[in-house]
Amino acid sequence: MSLKAVVVTAFVSVVSFSTMATAADGAEPRSVKSGVYSAAQAKRGEDLIYLECAKCHSATLLGGENNSPPLVGAPFQDRWKGKTLGELFTKMVTTMPSDDPGRLSKREFADLLAYILLANKYPAGTTDLPATPEALALITIEP
Ligand code: HEC
Repeated sequence: MSLKAVVVTAFVSVVSFSTMATAADGAEPRSVKSGVYSAAQAKRGEDLIYLECAKCHSATLLGGENNSPPLVGAPFQDRWKGKTLGELFTKMVTTMPSDDPGRLSKREFADLLAYILLANKYPAGTTDLPATPEALALITIEP
């Protein structure tokens, strides 16, 4: 093998190794359309919605009671368009349920967020949503 071939081979393996490392981290920017939650996580979130949120946002998440806004459909998606799941997560963690904020864990809010994505017809993937605002900030909301 010539020196040039050795150098090219080494370069190609460095590039493909770093591409693989990024994909394995799950740290690359994504959108809500790329399958960012799991079906099992959304199911856990659905159970919590009925217990903790439906009395205001309704079981369909269309809102209505106690001046609560819808969490599904075009009005919701337009309001959050271009922002990230990190911002939506932080809003929920710091203000919801509005009659007793701070009662639920971050893990429970990640599950609730997964159900909200399912109810908005975004596709499920194979891994759970993370439960930190930093990791969720890499996922953009788009209609
Ligand atoms: C006591 C009534 C009540 C309960 C219970 C409640 N919410 Fe809310 N929620 C509201 C009201 C009122 C607003 C609008 C005020 C605001 O945005 O701060 C709101 C806003 C929101 C928003 C922001 C919507 C937007 O587009 O700006 C989200 C997300 C949300 N709630 C999620 C939840 C989740 C998840 C739960 C269950 C853990 C929950 N809420 C429980 C009354 C409630």
